[in-house]
Amino acid sequence: MKKEFIPEELNIKEDRPGLTLKMIQEHFKLYQGYVKKTNEIQEKINVADKSEANGVYSYIGELKRQETFSVNGMKLHEVYFGHLNGDGQPKGELVKMIEKDFESLDAWKEDMVATAISARGWAVLAFDLKDNLLHNYGADSHNLGAVWGAIPVIVLDVYEHAYFMDYGVNRKDYLSAFFKNLDWDYANKIVRHFELDKKHCK
Ligand SMILES: [Fe+2]
Repeated sequence: MKKEFIPEELNIKEDRPGLTLKMIQEHFKLYQGYVKKTNEIQEKINVADKSEANGVYSYIGELKRQETFSVNGMKLHEVYFGHLNGDGQPKGELVKMIEKDFESLDAWKEDMVATAISARGWAVLAFDLKDNLLHNYGADSHNLGAVWGAIPVIVLDVYEHAYFMDYGVNRKDYLSAFFKNLDWDYANKIVRHFELDKKHCK
């Protein structure tokens, strides 16, 4: 079966508080590249010679290796851009879930910021289906640190390309801008879509 992903539209049309439209648009081009490459890799996998598979080097092996990088890059950016157009006001069922799992919203944010400063790629608030609880997971690359069976709910891109144009090396101020623009309604939609509030370990 042919698999083809269609890139999502950017829902941001003007400067956001602390984030210029120019930087967001340039960043969005990288996301579009991930969608394009994901489709290309999956097409090439379909016709690649599987008999040449080898753990040291093989064409099919490289396709499989880069597939996880590309697919995760696509998925994580979709959540990131999807919830970058809000007013930053925490609301909804997700807040109650965070307060239960992290003691308080402030404690969650402190942990999330520490994750974001430590990570080289991503800080992700994810609902892990292993224990039905929320976790802040850090990832050094799209496919290094990803936890299987965990659904990203809030996704924070901390690659330098996400903030260098506006902030240089000042990652902390970029993190403040991210939280100011976070659309909690979008994150709550993910919670409802996957019925995470029902699965949540009360
Ligand atoms: Fe990015």
